[in-house]
Amino acid sequence: MNAQFDPRKNNAAVDRPFLQVWQIEAYYGESYIVQNVSFDIREGEILALLGRNGAGKTSTLRTIARLGNPELKHGEIWLDHQPLHLMKSHQAAAAGIALVPEDRRIIAGLTVEENLQLAQIAPPIGWSLERIYELFPRLKERRKQEGVTLSGGEQQMLAIARALARDIKVLLLDEPYEGLAPVIVQEIAKTLKIIRDQGITTVIVEQNAVAALKLADRAVILDTGSVVFNGSAQEVLENEKLRAEYLAI
Ligand SMILES: Nc1ncnc2c1ncn2[C@@H]1O[C@H](COP(=O)(O)OP(=O)(O)OP(=O)(O)O)[C@@H](O)[C@H]1O
Ligand SMILES: [Mg+2]
Repeated sequence: MNAQFDPRKNNAAVDRPFLQVWQIEAYYGESYIVQNVSFDIREGEILALLGRNGAGKTSTLRTIARLGNPELKHGEIWLDHQPLHLMKSHQAAAAGIALVPEDRRIIAGLTVEENLQLAQIAPPIGWSLERIYELFPRLKERRKQEGVTLSGGEQQMLAIARALARDIKVLLLDEPYEGLAPVIVQEIAKTLKIIRDQGITTVIVEQNAVAALKLADRAVILDTGSVVFNGSAQEVLENEKLRAEYLAI
């Protein structure tokens, strides 16, 4: 386990994490869902956030993106010295957090390119269309096609591309591989590695735990809203007991 970094201690000997989630507690109404969750990520790392259905993965991502529901009632979230826990969702977005939700939210009636241009309507602008199309040649080929008519895999690519079109620091992906064929999963994983190599920090939530673990540097496993494992992705791949107990794989 990694030693927990305490944001209140200015300990120069500890390498400060890039994104730090510290003792967060979040509620839907009276329901206590995210229960004292802590983890942190270095810049440019990929972290797999795993756990069974209902473990609290989506709720944790939503809390980090400051969506308001669930409501954060305790804890702190720091992104590169910026206190996300004090922000609303639009401020967290401006600070560099991008959440790609499970349903992808491609805008109907707009082409692929218009979906991307809409993301760049206000500064700070991220990757140029040229750079995005270099990474996603399929989107370039289909740039005049209506976004919602793309295949599932292409829609996922567009959702990721749209996040990169803004100036982001952290990409939060909720089940990006859901419903996709293995060959498309591999293609997206390859792209996510390139995105990582270009300096974007990523949290990936996946039911396809093996695919996520192969991609990730680190892993956090949640069970009923609490962290039950925090370590290397390799460690989870090698630990059958852990996988059977919390991931059912
Ligand atoms: N809007 C909501 N209102 C009340 N409870 C909710 C709401 N959304 C989720 N929950 C509850 O919070 C818990 C965690 O849900 P969450 O969606 O975060 O889990 P998850 O790990 O993403 O699950 P899955 O793998 O099925 O997507 C579940 O018990 C769920 O029923
Ligand atoms: Mg979920």
